[in-house]
Parts: sequence; structure tokens; C-alpha cells
Amino acid sequence: MLLIDPSKKLSFTQYIRDGDLVIVYEKHDSMKAIKACETSVLQNRFGVFKHSDWIGKPFGSKVFSNKGGFVYLLAPTPELWTMVLSHRTQILYIADISFVITYLEIVPGCLVLESGTGSGSLTTSLARAVAPTGHVYTFDFHEQRAASAREDFEKTGVSSLVTVGVRDIQGEGFPDEYSGLADSVFLDLPQPWLAIPSAGKMLKQDGILCSFSPCIEQVQRSCETLRSNFTDIRTFEVLLRMYEVREGKMDCGQGDEGVSLGSPPYKRRQCSNESRKVHENTSSPVVMARPCGESRGHTGYLTFARLKCH
Ligand SMILES: C[S@@+](CC[C@H](N)C(=O)[O-])C[C@H]1O[C@@H](n2cnc3c(N)ncnc32)[C@H](O)[C@@H]1O
Repeated sequence: MLLIDPSKKLSFTQYIRDGDLVIVYEKHDSMKAIKACETSVLQNRFGVFKHSDWIGKPFGSKVFSNKGGFVYLLAPTPELWTMVLSHRTQILYIADISFVITYLEIVPGCLVLESGTGSGSLTTSLARAVAPTGHVYTFDFHEQRAASAREDFEKTGVSSLVTVGVRDIQGEGFPDEYSGLADSVFLDLPQPWLAIPSAGKMLKQDGILCSFSPCIEQVQRSCETLRSNFTDIRTFEVLLRMYEVREGKMDCGQGDEGVSLGSPPYKRRQCSNESRKVHENTSSPVVMARPCGESRGHTGYLTFARLKCH
């Protein structure tokens, strides 16, 4: 459950109930989504966890196994869902998702059209962004994928904010009933230029379109098509770089005992000359920061364009 109450405002149900979706967090790259069920257990390398111990606890709780191991029980936000959902297709990740939502200017109440739905990673964040009064109409021509996405939206609690349609958007375009109603349109399709004319018809005056493509050749072709009806056409590549920041000792010219050095770490600039002297003279701990090796590289290009006013 994404903890959205469509009748009110975004809200968090504070306590875990029987049947709630919970994100079991071991560490940032080891999480999974589990439905809490009074009679079930979770078994992992830390031991056996009884779900009955989870029910009634607030989200965010640390819970213990029979062997004293622990995990955290997190509320299922769209950001966490993106990290645990089952990949039926390539998906968008949070760096691209957050950029898309900002640049498409999506706010509560917006009507958004999307194709393809894929694994519903972006759709889930779109749903929360338009809640409680907006709606996302998402289309995929793959029936099974559309059905699985619907099931996921039920599971995550956003189904009242999302309608999944089965349709070949490149071939048929978006349904006429949305003509002139969409605040924004998002395309993640292999040949987006085929869907751009229809997307243009769906947008309100001044509405914005975004197309995600992994290859620059797709971008070039889309931009060519966009030029006839759109303005302010801009393409971005969002590159996310994580940093590891921790304390370590640094002896002049000797490297660092506590920190294994892949690339040279940056030493934190000290506030005063006095404290700099202390650090340089005594090799006391300093805060080291350096880019992580596992940073995510190219995912795709995001092309944005605004419908020309006639
Ligand atoms: C890469 S996935 C989209 C992933 C999605 N953005 C996410 O974050 O989970 C692309 C989807 O487009 C769908 N697709 C491809 N061609 C299509 C078409 N002509 N009409 C509708 N959907 C199409 C595919 O079935 C696939 O599910």
C-alpha cells in the first residue's frame, strides 16, 4: 500500500496492519516487498522473522529474528517500490523519474498520459504526484504486461489513480477522448516519433511532452518530428553519482590506514587555520569523500518539448 488516501491528502498509515505491503530493508541494495500476514514468517540469512511480531508496529521499526538478527520495516513509497518491483521490462529509476516529474511540472490534479506502461516503475511515481484528484492513463500494447501492472497498482494502493489500457500507441495514437485534456504526456516507446503527433493532439495548450530513449538516434528522429508542433525542445541525460563519505585517517604521503584508496579521496576543507594545523600535524581523523565505484551510468536521454500555442 502506498499510503495514499485519495479522498483526503497524501497520508501515512502509521502502523502495520495484517495485509499491508511492507518493504523489508536489510541495506540500501538489499530490500524486498512483502505482504504482512499474521500467520507467515520471513526466513533469511539473519534468521526467522514472524510477521505477527510486525503487526501493530509503526513503519520504520527495527524487528528481530529468532537469532537476534534484524531488519527494518519501511513504508512502501514509490521510490522504494522502484527498487524492489519485478522487472518485466527495462524500467526508469529515481534520478530520471524525479527529473521527469519536475520538468513535466506534474502536480496534484494533473491528467497525465503515458505509454508504454512496462513494469509500472514511472507510473507509480506519476500516480503519487497527481494524487489525490488527478489521474494517470497509461497504455501498453502487451496484454500480459498491462495485466501485471494493474495487479501491482492494486498491491501498491494506487489503482484508483491509474487506468491501464491495452493499445498500440505507435500505431493508433492515444484515444480521442483525451484530446486537449492532458497536462503532460510521457513516452517510453521504441519509435516515439510515431506517437508524437497524437501526443500533441492530447495536450492542453502549453502542455509538455517527454520522451525517454536509450539511443541518440531515436532522440534525433523524435526531435525532427517535434519541431513542427512543439517549442522549447531540450534533451538531457541524467547521470547520478553517489559519494561515500566517512571518517578516516590520512597521513601526509602515506595513504590512509582506515580507507582503501581506489581513487584519491577529497579531504574536507577545514573551517579555520587552527583546526587545519591540528589535522595536518597529528593525523587525526578527517572526513573523506569520494565517488562510489557503483554509480549508475547512462540510462537514456530525456527529451522535453512544449506544445506550440496556435
Ligand atoms: C521500456 S518499457 C517502459 C518501462 C516503464 N517506463 C517503466 O518505468 O517501468 C516499454 C514498454 O513499451 C511497450 N510498447 C512498445 N511498443 C508499444 C506500442 N506500440 N504501443 C504501446 N506500448 C508499446 C512495451 O510493451 C514495453 O512494456
